[in-house]
Amino acid sequence: MDVKGKLVVVTGGAGGIGLGLCRRFAREGAKRVIVADVNEAGALSVAEEIDGTAVTCDAGREEDLIRLVRFTEQTYGGIDLFCSNAGVIVMGGVEAGNEDWKRIWEINVMAHVYAARALLPGMIKRGGGAFMVTASAAGLLSQIGSLPYSVTKHAAVGLAENIAITYGDRGIKVFLLCPQAVRSEMTRQGGGVAALDGLIEPEEVADAVIDSFNREEFLILPHPEVKTYMQRKTTDYDRWLRGMRKLQSRFAASEARPLESNPKAGLPPSQRDILSQTGE
Ligand SMILES: NC(=O)c1ccc[n+]([C@@H]2O[C@H](COP(=O)([O-])OP(=O)(O)OC[C@H]3O[C@@H](n4cnc5c(N)ncnc54)[C@H](O)[C@@H]3O)[C@@H](O)[C@H]2O)c1
Repeated sequence: MDVKGKLVVVTGGAGGIGLGLCRRFAREGAKRVIVADVNEAGALSVAEEIDGTAVTCDAGREEDLIRLVRFTEQTYGGIDLFCSNAGVIVMGGVEAGNEDWKRIWEINVMAHVYAARALLPGMIKRGGGAFMVTASAAGLLSQIGSLPYSVTKHAAVGLAENIAITYGDRGIKVFLLCPQAVRSEMTRQGGGVAALDGLIEPEEVADAVIDSFNREEFLILPHPEVKTYMQRKTTDYDRWLRGMRKLQSRFAASEARPLESNPKAGLPPSQRDILSQTGE
């Protein structure tokens, strides 16, 4: 799939991975890039930089997504590619509060449902279109230190798979973006996606996206080693869980030390560390 000449929407486009995608799509010659973000000033600044259009939108609210799709289609025509990218993280386990669970569920899962519901009928009528979901390697493996992130990203993976199965023969191309750690506000704030190693730049994520678009490959892995981890998980689930428990105890131990003596405190280990932990 070629982005050249396409009408593209990116949610969470004002920063991090979304910003990297907006810049790259503009460079690839997209007809127009719609920068949709809850951060109005950020969206305006990116739109100005890439000669795109800013739309203020909270991806966790269905009315905002309906407005985004309607505005774009009435102003510029049918959307060719919609990147449902905005996402948030909440650290913690079962003790995380219900309000946090509801919010992360709305943004990391329902946002994709709302977008697909607003978009797909029009795309099917026009003969096709593309829908990319930004999930995470945490949706294929797990996220040490965050139950809400692991659960919602697994749900996003399941959603993308099912949409690909249901609508693939009706012209809808679905792409599933599953990075490990990427430099962004999320990782800068020490969010659970941060890793002890393997942090890549948003530009590298955009490279992987364009490569997978060219190959029309559903699963986009900017960290190719994630495929090996998936294989290890499915080959021996119990061994994988044992390795993850070791990582979990390392994370818990590093959290227990004071931050100033341990700058990595609060950052869970990366999946890459599993290799040494499991002795493989
Ligand atoms: N950064 C990572 O290491 C990493 C790894 C794997 C997956 N992801 C996923 O990639 C996506 C982008 O992550 P990022 O690290 O670039 O995030 P980020 O925290 O840097 O945020 C990117 C943008 O999303 C916007 N945003 C936040 N909530 C929004 C909402 N409700 N509606 C619209 N916009 C909203 C922010 O204003 C910001 O401009 C997320 O789905 C995240 O879960 C990130």
